[in-house]
Amino acid sequence: MAIFPIRTYPDPVLRLAAAPVGAGNAELRRLVDDMIETMYAAPGVGLAAPQIGVSLRVIVFDAGEGPHHVLNPVLEATSGEYLYEEGCLSVPNRYWPIERPAYARVRGTDLKGREVVYEGEELMGRVLQHEVDHLEGVLLLQRLSRRERKEALRELRLEAMERGAG
Ligand code: NI
Repeated sequence: MAIFPIRTYPDPVLRLAAAPVGAGNAELRRLVDDMIETMYAAPGVGLAAPQIGVSLRVIVFDAGEGPHHVLNPVLEATSGEYLYEEGCLSVPNRYWPIERPAYARVRGTDLKGREVVYEGEELMGRVLQHEVDHLEGVLLLQRLSRRERKEALRELRLEAMERGAG
């Protein structure tokens, strides 16, 4: 297993729609293991493959009950409303209150090709929605209000310039 550097905004891989994966194989198993290790090292509660530069439809998460993975996850149901201080390893050290549905259900397959379904509210619901967003090239910045997004992008640009100058 290996810990990978996490790609951060504005890395273009984070804006791509990721490609579906086929049946589980050794390479895919290694990807899932590496993603779980990278998630825990960060530390984070979820990670999508594009965040380590692999544009494939694979997510991992641990919303408090151990590590899980889903291949080709589809967000098939949401309901309710929940305001949560949301962050993303690809936009490090920043949190915004973002409203999304409270409940989410995701269906996909595991490495053995079995159908898996994960569902939950609050943190679980949030992680599922957030990670599936990554597979569509959507970052939490796109879930902010217009005004918040403008401000966030301005700050991120300034930071990038300072890094470049430093
Ligand atoms: Ni994220």
